[in-house]
Amino acid sequence: MFRLYFYIRKIVIRILLWIIRMEFKKKTTMIGTGHSFYKGAAVTLHDGSTKEDIILHDHSEVWGRVTSINHGKIIFHDWAKLGTRSTIEAVNWVEIGEDCEISYDVVISDNNSHPTNPADRKYYHRTPHGSDERSHKHSISAPIFIGDNVWIGQRARICKGVTIGNNAIIAANSVVTHNVPANAIAAGNPAKIVRTDIDKTTTPIFPLSKESK
Ligand SMILES: CC(C)(COP(=O)(O)OP(=O)(O)OC[C@H]1O[C@@H](n2cnc3c(N)ncnc32)[C@H](O)[C@@H]1OP(=O)(O)O)[C@@H](O)C(=O)NCCC(=O)NCCS
Repeated sequence: MFRLYFYIRKIVIRILLWIIRMEFKKKTTMIGTGHSFYKGAAVTLHDGSTKEDIILHDHSEVWGRVTSINHGKIIFHDWAKLGTRSTIEAVNWVEIGEDCEISYDVVISDNNSHPTNPADRKYYHRTPHGSDERSHKHSISAPIFIGDNVWIGQRARICKGVTIGNNAIIAANSVVTHNVPANAIAAGNPAKIVRTDIDKTTTPIFPLSKESK
């Protein structure tokens, strides 16, 4: 009985993953091979965005949700990974470098979503959902660039206009509102630089680490 349950479950998951893959094929531009999607992965195109606005290079892994609004660009370079329940929203530009590891429940948004001016925000709030005025594209936005091999910890938030340098680490629960240099660790809310030269000691079991010496 249990065997049958696990067999049926396996098949249901396979069908679900196939449906998700088809959705991504339809709504994103997939370049190369080895893309991976997992349960909960989703892609949304709003306000005229098209599949050309979301580009997934070789071996990118999308386990969270990506949303392009009004042709906001989302680019995953080779081997970049977005973790479970994490979200990326772009009205402007969000670029994720090679080998980036974005953990779960991370939020990356290149815009404020709502107007900061009180009168505008009240108007926005009373405007019907789906109307042009209620789009995040009207809020302040600025591009986000995440370099290669960046590791973003659980539940971090990356705010508009931030550039994160290669090999940097963003600590869990951080809110990143300013740029982070390469090889640094940023932590806290708002995130501050707590290390500027990450330990370069290599671990012999990882052959690639010898190359990075
Ligand atoms: C606060 C917010 C609206 C930005 O407003 P803004 O007027 O564009 O402000 P700025 O980006 O210029 O930031 C102003 C200051 O607040 C800080 N700041 C902004 N957002 C912050 C956050 N979430 N946590 C901590 N500090 C924050 C900035 O670092 C900056 O500090 P500084 O002056 O010392 O450099 C935006 O960052 C935000 O948090 N929006 C909420 C988005 C949201 O939750 N949307 C969900 C859908 S409703």
